[in-house]
Amino acid sequence: MARASAIAIVVFSCFLILVLQLADGSESKLCPPWCVTRLDASVARVNISFDWICENGADCRPIRPGGPCYVEGDIKAMSSYAFNDYFQKTRPSGGLCDYGEVATISNEDPSHGACNFTCTPY
Ligand SMILES: *[C@@H]1O[C@H](CO)[C@@H](O)[C@H](O)[C@H]1NC(C)=O
Ligand SMILES: *[C@@H]1O[C@H](CO)[C@@H](O)[C@H](O)[C@H]1NC(C)=O
Repeated sequence: MARASAIAIVVFSCFLILVLQLADGSESKLCPPWCVTRLDASVARVNISFDWICENGADCRPIRPGGPCYVEGDIKAMSSYAFNDYFQKTRPSGGLCDYGEVATISNEDPSHGACNFTCTPY
């Protein structure tokens, strides 16, 4: 019994060290994840969340015509920029990447050309 709990403590300590190391690693690595628009989301629903998020804290200036992230006619590419910007800002306080089931987490950098997707340290 004593031996079993000693082993359990050792196993648990190793696990704890591993978790702490992983947490440490993610501290220096700010992104991923990014937050992007779901490919299977309907444009009508994306539009609703996209409008809302631009009025409630996302920086949507880069996706206006003439901006580095403006992609004519591609609502999903542009809304991805807005969702990610908002997600990066709200992530430290527990913000989720969902926005009415139209966005999802991605480990691939969605930046394109001169358009840099925001990455906020936390
Ligand atoms: C979504 O918004 C774009 C740009 O404002 C508009 O052109 C498009 O018709 C909208 N689509 C839907 C399904 O609401
Ligand atoms: C985008 O970010 C990368 C990496 O931080 C940087 O090298 C590049 O200059 C940035 N591009 C623009 C247009 O800001």
